[in-house]
Amino acid sequence: MRNDITGRLRTGCFVTVINYCSQKEINMIEFKNIRKSFGDKVVLDGVSHVMETGKANLIIGTSGSGKTVLQKCLVGLIEPDEGEIIYDGKSFTDMTEEDRKLLRQQIGMLFQGSALFDSMNVENNIKFPLDMFTKDSNSNKIKRVNEVLERVNLVGSNKKLPSEISGGMKKRVAIARAIVLNPKYLFCDEPNSGLDPQTSMLIDKLIYEITKEFNMTTIVNTHDMNSVMEIGDNILYLAKGKKEWTGNSKDIIFSDNQQLNEFIFASEFLQDAKNMRMLEAKGKVDGNGNMKK
Ligand SMILES: Nc1ncnc2c1ncn2[C@@H]1O[C@H](COP(=O)(O)OP(=O)(O)OP(=O)(O)O)[C@@H](O)[C@H]1O
Ligand SMILES: [Mg+2]
Repeated sequence: MRNDITGRLRTGCFVTVINYCSQKEINMIEFKNIRKSFGDKVVLDGVSHVMETGKANLIIGTSGSGKTVLQKCLVGLIEPDEGEIIYDGKSFTDMTEEDRKLLRQQIGMLFQGSALFDSMNVENNIKFPLDMFTKDSNSNKIKRVNEVLERVNLVGSNKKLPSEISGGMKKRVAIARAIVLNPKYLFCDEPNSGLDPQTSMLIDKLIYEITKEFNMTTIVNTHDMNSVMEIGDNILYLAKGKKEWTGNSKDIIFSDNQQLNEFIFASEFLQDAKNMRMLEAKGKVDGNGNMKK
């Protein structure tokens, strides 16, 4: 059973939630043979994959490879030309607009560049989905806002405007807004864009932690090599509109897919690091990088 974010936050206890349900709830997203073209330009050329529950599912690929288009297809912002999308065993492709609306309430989205409302303070930005989709009292909504603010380590930032906070804080606010409705599915498009490497790692860690804590199906679009290595539970590499490679952050070190290697280990430094890791795994070098006799 997925952990209930609201219940957990309300009790203030993140580690002692007991799972009473023996039947595991599945929130995976499966898609088959997705095709999308704009005019003559084929962007997605028959892509199939399964985004797994409780995992950080990464979509990687060069700029223009179709990562954003694929995410938009999965949430219904773009209609694919062909293919099927299945949420938790139910066909999203065949769903009525009414049912899609209900499903969307279980989807949290973190847009490229945070996309906060400039004129609203942090509290109102996070409260926005609650105002849109719930009929709860204002005091309960504020309570919920404070719960998620606590989770992203921004207690007391309620009245600040987006222009008064740093890029990393904006991302945290956007994450808080994305999880405020207790989603089963979390979509993040380039969550690290515009952030320094250290802040990027903190944001990755936060996304990863909430994915595990609340057993969400999280989909992250990224070019960030650190993200791939740190949180890549299930990686889909797109190239020329197709699924070119799939695996996890451990497999990627050992991959002999040339296109993938040129993309991920683009610099000589990273290529050396990969070679060293491979030698280490084969027992040919020690932890300090010295050849064993
Ligand atoms: N609405 C649209 N109309 C026409 N072409 C589009 C549209 N949306 C995307 N494209 C094209 O689809 C291709 C893939 O775009 P997409 O934004 O998915 O790339 P991406 O992999 O997310 O790139 P980035 O890493 O730069 O964000 C691009 O060539 C883009 O120009
Ligand atoms: Mg994109």
